[in-house]
Amino acid sequence: MANIKFYSGEEVPLEMHKVRIVQKLSLPHIERRLEALNEAGNNTFLLKNSDIYLDMLTDSGVNAMSDKQLAAMMESDDSYAGSSTFTKLENKIRDIFGMDYFLPVHQGRAAENVLAKVFVRPGQVVPMNYHFTTTKAHICVNGGSVDEIIIDEGLEVTSTNPFKGNMDIAKLEAVIARLGAENIAFVRVETGTNLIGGQPHSLENLRQVSNVCNKHGILLVFDASLLADNLYFIRTREEACKQMSVREITRAIADLCDIVYFSARKLGCARGGGICTRSRDLFMKMRELVTLYEGFLTYGGMSVREIEAITVGLEETMDDDMISQGPQFIKFMVDELDRKGVPVITPPGGLGCHLDALRFIPHVPQTQYPAGALASALFLVSGVRGMERGSVSEQRDDDGNEVYSNMELLRLAVPRRVFTLSQLKYAVDRIVWLHENRALIGGLSFVEEPKMLRFFFGKLAPTSDWQHKLLAKFRADLGDSL
Ligand code: F0G
Repeated sequence: MANIKFYSGEEVPLEMHKVRIVQKLSLPHIERRLEALNEAGNNTFLLKNSDIYLDMLTDSGVNAMSDKQLAAMMESDDSYAGSSTFTKLENKIRDIFGMDYFLPVHQGRAAENVLAKVFVRPGQVVPMNYHFTTTKAHICVNGGSVDEIIIDEGLEVTSTNPFKGNMDIAKLEAVIARLGAENIAFVRVETGTNLIGGQPHSLENLRQVSNVCNKHGILLVFDASLLADNLYFIRTREEACKQMSVREITRAIADLCDIVYFSARKLGCARGGGICTRSRDLFMKMRELVTLYEGFLTYGGMSVREIEAITVGLEETMDDDMISQGPQFIKFMVDELDRKGVPVITPPGGLGCHLDALRFIPHVPQTQYPAGALASALFLVSGVRGMERGSVSEQRDDDGNEVYSNMELLRLAVPRRVFTLSQLKYAVDRIVWLHENRALIGGLSFVEEPKMLRFFFGKLAPTSDWQHKLLAKFRADLGDSL
């Protein structure tokens, strides 16, 4: 983390990179944005890029790549089997994680498919700090279930706990005592815990989880998709790690786990994914499924160009300046909003800035999907596309009852090295305006509801004409502004 102080005393997240390739953006006027919302069934996943100004849907596959990544992509070695591009990545995994066996897959959820098919038997449970949507779906499809044993503070929206992503060790011991180790498929720790606001776990907590798993002979599986942000927080928030390098922390993490898997759409700023292990036995158990579902063992569904980009991206993740850019920009956005009274998740985490819809629009009940309604309202007034991370992202239970999520969040992802500070200021400005006009926001109801992963394709409609009222207020306050 470059130590650069401003003479003015202002805290500015200064970029340690320059922009050399740009993409033109446009901002359609609010009347068009309302049309676009209707066409997309108020589901931001279904919006078209041409209608969007700032795409804060996700950081997945949309982080900016470096000049060195692009250069490496040009010299990739393409072959169905035995490509030297793959060997480079294998060696990089050995170097960084100290794990000899690497299975390539086309993205993170493909790793989850393999892991769930190999290790989850019907009736088994996977305790984890918190679920991710695709992880849970794969475990459930294979007859298992998840048990979330995050520390209680993890679910408190505002907190000063620096490690809200920690697993509760007493709850872990209790679940093992209750079910017996044989009924636990594996324990999963998700770094940079996505659905609770990109909140990190500490190295010490992972050490304790690992000790418990070893004691009971249970596999510890680590989802490293959001590792870059979590490394930054361990490095800056965990006293015992302040003298460790990013590389040393990464190695210490990997040494505690049996399997590390990741989405390279996030980790390494590329596309693709992988599963790493030190155990030949575990590797042999998973190997066949990679060739069955993904591709041969030296590409796993990825293009060789992407594999080159991952290799360079992983190495670049070992750099303080690289991993600090995202969290520092997110902190800027969270602090600005917090100062202006907008309810956000604190402390600032990784991945993005998270608005707390339950406090933003307390008059919209969970039955009317407040996080979805807020996503829709924000797009309308700004052209900023966020992602609903609330009850729409849940799935009905076997009897068809709604499962309401613990938190109703609107996630505004800040893909790494993509946006400028003025663009974040624009987003903050429109969010503050929306907050002042929050009484106008109403709810949503499903008009098309898929059974599985409904948040991807479901369509919803406003429960009243609140969007037209919001549009009229926007025009009254902001005149002819886009
Ligand atoms: N695990 C975590 C923690 C994730 O955040 C994701 C993806 C996956 C696994 C699955 O990886 O998309 O490559 O198949 N998160 C994306 C997001 C989709 O927007 O947060 P994938």
